[in-house]
Amino acid sequence: MCTRSGELVIISRGKLHSKIKDKIKSLRFYVIVMIMCAAILPGAVAYFGVIKAYEARAVSLQTAEIQNQCTILCDQLASYHYLEERSSEVINAGLTQMTNIYNGRVMIINSDLEVIKDTYALDEGKTIVSENVVRCMQGTSTNYYDKENHYIEVTSPITESGSDKIAGIMLASVSTDTIEDSLEILSSRGKVILGTMLMLVLALAFLVADLLVRPLHKIASEIEGVTEGYADEVARVDRFTETRQISDAFNKTLARLKRIDDSREEFVSNVSHELKTPLASMKVLADSLVTQENVPVELYQEFMEDIAKEIDRENDIIMDLLTLVKMDKRSQDINVRQVQVNEMLELILKRLKPIAEKKNVEVVLESFRPVTAEIDEVKMTLAISNLVENAIKYNHADGWVHVSLNADHKFFYIKVSDSGIGIPEEDQAHIFERFYRVDKSHSREIGGTGLGLAIARNAVIMHRGSIKVYSTHGEGTTFTVRVPLIYVTS
Ligand SMILES: Nc1ncnc2c1ncn2[C@@H]1O[C@H](COP(=O)(O)OP(=O)(O)O)[C@@H](O)[C@H]1O
Ligand SMILES: [Mg+2]
Repeated sequence: MCTRSGELVIISRGKLHSKIKDKIKSLRFYVIVMIMCAAILPGAVAYFGVIKAYEARAVSLQTAEIQNQCTILCDQLASYHYLEERSSEVINAGLTQMTNIYNGRVMIINSDLEVIKDTYALDEGKTIVSENVVRCMQGTSTNYYDKENHYIEVTSPITESGSDKIAGIMLASVSTDTIEDSLEILSSRGKVILGTMLMLVLALAFLVADLLVRPLHKIASEIEGVTEGYADEVARVDRFTETRQISDAFNKTLARLKRIDDSREEFVSNVSHELKTPLASMKVLADSLVTQENVPVELYQEFMEDIAKEIDRENDIIMDLLTLVKMDKRSQDINVRQVQVNEMLELILKRLKPIAEKKNVEVVLESFRPVTAEIDEVKMTLAISNLVENAIKYNHADGWVHVSLNADHKFFYIKVSDSGIGIPEEDQAHIFERFYRVDKSHSREIGGTGLGLAIARNAVIMHRGSIKVYSTHGEGTTFTVRVPLIYVTS
């Protein structure tokens, strides 16, 4: 994410921004579709439901009314013996009236299924055999609604007066045009209401979708401002909790990137400075030899020894830097295996014995139990060596260094205590930083690159462990290291 010049760049700017814009566009589309569906579907269902319910109700009312009329007429027909003598004015008038009122047709059929009266006068004398007619002859009134041809057909039995015998039936078919007309009016009104609702909901959907995505657009353009280098942070978009969280999270990431970038810059400048110091000393030494005439051999020897020391120092710094850079790649090159930590510590102390003896510092190892752990032996040795070496280096003559090893079911603990010069409280927070040394001139005298603790800390963190320092200036220092017994892959 960072360019070489140190400027912050967020992944391929154009792509990111057009991707965000596309996402916002589709979000807006989905919001509109959802609002439309949520409003229109129930509307449409209600509309069709009302039409259907009205139709069913109207048909059943009309059927009941005609059935009533038929029953009344059938009773009259029986009392006037109409099936035998069709000249009754009263009945004929009743039949005509019914025909006119309901815009229909009435037929009287005798027990031989012969049509003896047809108000349309079309089928008189013909025989009718239909399911409804036959069923009615057995005494059951029937009705039937033909939706396609817009009529209702009703049959009603004519019972001989004084007995239960069915002498004939009345078959009436009436038009449902009035129902159809009402349905048409209802449906066209419904359509107008539905259409108006559609327009209103559409307008509302656009409005709501715009209100929803506006803060997102604002964030997107704020991010664009940052990625194009016009702004250092995005303005807080407070409209929704989510947008506020996005802007805060983005600003936090930006701040982190900035910190990383700053520390990288500082590291680069520190490295240049540290590498230039031995070179500058060598230059001064070499120049003074070159510019003097008749330099005695002893001086040559002395200066060349100094130059060799500076070369060693330069070499140390470069080696430590390489170690650090390798560790910065993090877990990729960690090489864990089961290691006997007790043996590892014994070996470390054995290697450092000569430096300790030089200062007459007593180094003691205390192992509370045998510990086997899944670690990278090389890296862990490097870390602990640095701690023990510091404990010896920053110690008084005739001092002591105490190294202890303990473990529980999850971690092992290494403690390195010394009776040395201690670290002032204000420096304790910085000693793990690269090139940080408490007392530059003194440390330089002692030797060291200021990278040892940074390397140690990196090595411990690579093992998902932790390292802490406790120190009292002038009295001594204790470093504690805690590392999981089993390596945890993230
Ligand atoms: N055990 C210790 N006692 C006192 N000071 C210490 C101790 N360990 C580290 N320090 C301080 O922390 C600084 C950083 O240590 P380190 O990173 O190992 O660098 P150096 O190369 O100087 O040893 C040292 O320069 C020293 O000032
Ligand atoms: Mg050191």
